[in-house]
Amino acid sequence: MNKYAVKSRDKWSTGFGFIMSAAGSAVGLGNIWKFPYVCGTGGGAVFLAVYIFFVIVLGYPILLTELAVGRNGGSNAVTACERIKKGWGFAGGFGVAGSMAVLAYYCTVGGWVMKYFFTAASGNIPEPTYFSEYSSLTFEPLVWQTVFILINGMIVMLGVSKGIEKVSSVLLPLLLMFLVGLMIYSLTLEGAGEGVKFFLMPDFSRITGFGELADIIVAAMGQVFFSLSLGMGTLITYGSYLDREANLSRSTGVILFIDTLIAVISGLTVLPSVFAMGMEPDEGAGLIFSTLTGVFGRLSSGNLIGAFFFALVLFAALTSSISLIETITAYLSERFGMSRKKAVAVPVAAAVLLSVPASLSYGVLSDFKIFGMTAFELYVFISDRIIMPLGGFCLCILAGWLWGRENTDREISSGGKYPFRLSGVYSFLIKYVSPVMIAVVFFSYFRNML
Ligand code: PHE
Repeated sequence: MNKYAVKSRDKWSTGFGFIMSAAGSAVGLGNIWKFPYVCGTGGGAVFLAVYIFFVIVLGYPILLTELAVGRNGGSNAVTACERIKKGWGFAGGFGVAGSMAVLAYYCTVGGWVMKYFFTAASGNIPEPTYFSEYSSLTFEPLVWQTVFILINGMIVMLGVSKGIEKVSSVLLPLLLMFLVGLMIYSLTLEGAGEGVKFFLMPDFSRITGFGELADIIVAAMGQVFFSLSLGMGTLITYGSYLDREANLSRSTGVILFIDTLIAVISGLTVLPSVFAMGMEPDEGAGLIFSTLTGVFGRLSSGNLIGAFFFALVLFAALTSSISLIETITAYLSERFGMSRKKAVAVPVAAAVLLSVPASLSYGVLSDFKIFGMTAFELYVFISDRIIMPLGGFCLCILAGWLWGRENTDREISSGGKYPFRLSGVYSFLIKYVSPVMIAVVFFSYFRNML
């Protein structure tokens, strides 16, 4: 027996619970907060088209690979990669480190969302300018982000089936229902049509040269990785709590569908209201905090709608951040023999500390730069630009070249139980298309820095 074998491991209690948890990890701030604004700055429909292309050719093979590697290993991300090929634990190690980096800034945004939720729920919609004012404060954002982290810690402490699965099975369906309601409302606002057009009808005049197109491609690929939680060891970890009854290829399809659907619905909620109010969609990271609150502020019962909206964002954020903590917790408890309590406390404490400079990046530390970046930007850079593509690339090599088609087929089909019809396509994508694409986009991003 392997020296890292675990005696008793938790498992998902139902297939539905697993899908809700994995889709809950994928659906997060990336869909509601980030997608509308990167789409807004990246030219609308052209971005959407490139995004969907990457979901199919990168998202499908990599997500499926992560689940297969996880289930095969029945262990944390590092051990699971090692079980495929000795010496390859680092492929999962990128994920564990990357999860910490994402957590370090995700919690800052989670804290902002909590603040906005409570402010709106208490009857006040903050003014659009309030975002820059609030985010630059020193103490209050630190308090909210710490509360956010502690809630996460409590859920993960309860365990996989009793904590993560229970919470995700309630929050994700609620999120989907509420978001559809809000989208319908947003689409009925006068002038919303412009936003829909911007989102769905490609306007090539916005792309003036190759450089711009390359930027859209880099941004879309990064967004696919981030939104689907790829290259972070998260889905390896979640896959490890599955048994052979699960149909991996079908589950992958469902997770991709839910994540993309929620990104599109968010686009159709945020952008039409922004246009309806005559505002600009390229506001950047503050889009939902400043532009959208401007929209809520002008509506009758805007604070109710605002509170509703920020509650949704909070649900989405929570089901993702718990998956980041679980990735680290599984690693610490299985590799270092820590109790679950300790293995949760360590990443929670690290997140509390690391997110302090992230929050202060918007205030007193805004001039404190490392390699020309604030702490917040540095975390984003390390996780989104370096670790996610690197982790994804290594995984393609590990599964496509070292594990081989026979083995991936066996795992994905649960030993022949579920015929894997896309086997040929999958193995071509994971061996050639995905790694080459990741490498090209990775280097084209760095060309800007040279
Ligand atoms: N996918 C999450 C989102 O869209 C973020 C995330 C990335 C979660 C990586 C886990 C791992 O917000």
